[in-house]
This record gives sequence, structure tokens and C-alpha cells, in this order.
Amino acid sequence: MRFDIVTIFPEFFGVLDVSLLGRARRDGVLELGVHDLREWTHDRHRTVDDTPYGGGAGMVMKPEPWGEAFDALLGPEDGPPSDALVIFTTPAGVPFTQSLARELATESRIVFACGRYEGIDARVAEHVATRARVLEVSLGDYVLNGGEVAAMAMIEAIGRLVPGVVGNPESLVEESHEDGLLEHPSYTKPRVWRGLEVPEVLRGGNHAAVDAWRRAEALERTRRVRPDLLPGGDSPL
Ligand code: ADE
Repeated sequence: MRFDIVTIFPEFFGVLDVSLLGRARRDGVLELGVHDLREWTHDRHRTVDDTPYGGGAGMVMKPEPWGEAFDALLGPEDGPPSDALVIFTTPAGVPFTQSLARELATESRIVFACGRYEGIDARVAEHVATRARVLEVSLGDYVLNGGEVAAMAMIEAIGRLVPGVVGNPESLVEESHEDGLLEHPSYTKPRVWRGLEVPEVLRGGNHAAVDAWRRAEALERTRRVRPDLLPGGDSPL
């Protein structure tokens, strides 16, 4: 699977060299291309933003550098459609969830467009949609300074679901959100630590009892912390 990222802060993505995703890249399971949007500017100041039509605070990202970036990454605007999926990271997008991550992990190529300031001129997404599939995706209901951290979080969540990235695929199914519930608590040795003992059921070797305990703990935790995840559940706030 290949990720391309267009950003004015390519150095943000250095963290993708480390840990599991870094190894997956070195193993050739994941490919990553990080592109500086300013490479597609032509003025002395390498300008990427301008004042908004209609007034208001803040700046809007200009369409021209984005247009050239997409021509370079998806092919010429009058060429054949691209099979890449283009994701614009924006707090105004659909929420990023584990089930969306699972769907996205089946793509062969995703291009992330990281907006800054008050976002990207709206014609850019409209134009890209004429030759590629486009999704506007939000990391959550809060505002970041730009889409870079959002893209990075999404790449990590999607990338680890790509076969071959996480060594033991079993570990992927036993996590929070994979079955719609929060994960049960986990323990390791020693049996007693600072006076706190690991629950007895986990030490007894009865797998059915362990499964039942974990399920009950997951349900209890979800009910307490995230009742909104349960059918008919209320918001925790
Ligand atoms: N850019 C700024 N805030 C964002 C968010 N919550 N999700 C995605 N991109 C963003």
C-alpha cells in the first residue's frame, strides 16, 4: 500500500521512519511519499495562502499549488481517472473511526491533502473529484492547527491494518473498537505488585472463564466510559 502526503510541513512526517510503520516501510510493505506543497509555487515567497473571499479572519490555501500537486500525483487533469483515494483532512469531514480505517486499509493508494489556516479553497476538492475518489475526513470534534497530525494518526491506524505490518494479526482483533467495545484491562507478571493482585480468574487457566470475564469487563468499561457506543446508549457528557 502506498501513502502520499501533500503538506507545507514535510518534516512533521519524520516520525513515520520509526517503530512498526518504519519497519514496514523498510520491508517494502508500505510506501510513503511526502511532498512539499511549496514545490508547486512559482513566486519568490512560495505563497500558499490568501485572504478569504467574503471577508473574515484567517487565510485560505490558494488553489493553484494544489492543482499542480494533484496533476503531478494523479496525472494530468485531462488524463484517465486515478485509482488513488484522495483524503482531505479537515474538522468539517466525516469522523475517522476504526471501521473507516478497516475500509481504507483495503485501498492500494491514498493521497492525503493536509490543509492549514482556514482550509483549502473549496474548488480544489471539487476539481479532484472529477478524476479520483475524494473523502473529507476529520480526526475528531476538535480543531488542530492543520491536517498533518490528523493525517499521521490516520496513516498509523490504517497502516497497522495492512497485512504484514503488525507481526501477529491476532493482536489486532482483541483491541478497543474492533468489536465495538472498549478493551478489557490487561495484566502481566508479577502476580502481586505494590499490594495489587492480578484477578484470580486470569491465573486459573480456564479459557472459557477468562473469555467471559474479559467480555464482562469490556462491557462494564464501555457502559461507564462510552455509553454512546452501545445500542441506545447516551452520550457520556
Ligand atoms: N485540521 C484541523 N483540525 C482537524 C481535525 N480535527 N481533523 C482533521 N483535520 C484537521
